[in-house]
Amino acid sequence: MVYQFGLIGYPIKHSLSPWIHKQFLTRSGLTGDYSIIEIDPNSNISESITALRKMELDGFNITVPYKQTIIDYLDDLDESALQIGAVNTVLCKNNRWIGYNTDGIGYVRSLERKYPEIMNRKTDSVLILGAGGACKGIYHGLLANGYRHITLANRTKQKAEAIANAENVITLEEAQQNITKFGIIIQTTSVGMKPHQADAVIDLYGINRDTIVSDIVYQPLMTTFLNQAKQLGAKVHLGHTMLLYQAQYAFEIWTNEQSDMTGLDQQLQMQLEG
Ligand code: ATR
Repeated sequence: MVYQFGLIGYPIKHSLSPWIHKQFLTRSGLTGDYSIIEIDPNSNISESITALRKMELDGFNITVPYKQTIIDYLDDLDESALQIGAVNTVLCKNNRWIGYNTDGIGYVRSLERKYPEIMNRKTDSVLILGAGGACKGIYHGLLANGYRHITLANRTKQKAEAIANAENVITLEEAQQNITKFGIIIQTTSVGMKPHQADAVIDLYGINRDTIVSDIVYQPLMTTFLNQAKQLGAKVHLGHTMLLYQAQYAFEIWTNEQSDMTGLDQQLQMQLEG
């Protein structure tokens, strides 16, 4: 069988997904291709989707700005996509399109792979900074994996209250004041991303060495936020690994193969650092 996969979104010419999935194909001993299918938001989306159907792909990924739009064109949604309300992976099987969201599970996999001891720390208090699409995926991924004490902090509190119960939502100022109470801190806002790499969403001063600090921003890989965590002796988790593991789970949905990940983290790091 020759697999045909793709990515839809805009703009996606510089996406790392083709490289990642071609690695998975090779590592799993499978034959296939993964192509970039850019859809201009000014074009007729329905027509583009009809053309996509005709390509008879085995599966495809969806990125901005179509993670919600695609739902109207699907035959079914898996639990993860239903909860998150967005789809990043479609399985095309027997002429049916089934939508999944692999962001949350992928994120948790990347975290547990880096710090396996975290699997014994599921009762730790987790702080998620931000309340955008990425936060929603990670929040549901953590819940699905047994993490129970999750607090959300966001600049706009109402956005966080649309994801979690109000009693588990705090302001960014409250997060900073209470920072020592959290064993796992996950930064999901866009703060600190190039070209604003000097910025950090809150000050981590006071965290202890056991704290795991994660940032989903991967440009730059070592954000100001993570640099501070490192200086304070905490454990850091880099954002590009989420990209790898959400892709691993998507590939698994399409092929039933769990790709070996040895060394991929470092290889992707090298690509990102040019
Ligand atoms: P994504 O879908 O990638 O998560 P998003 O939906 O645009 O992106 O969400 C961006 C997140 O970054 C939001 O939580 C946003 O806070 P608001 O909900 O208050 O807008 C947060 N964010 C962006 N810029 C920020 C800033 N300068 N300070 C604090 N939070 C910021």
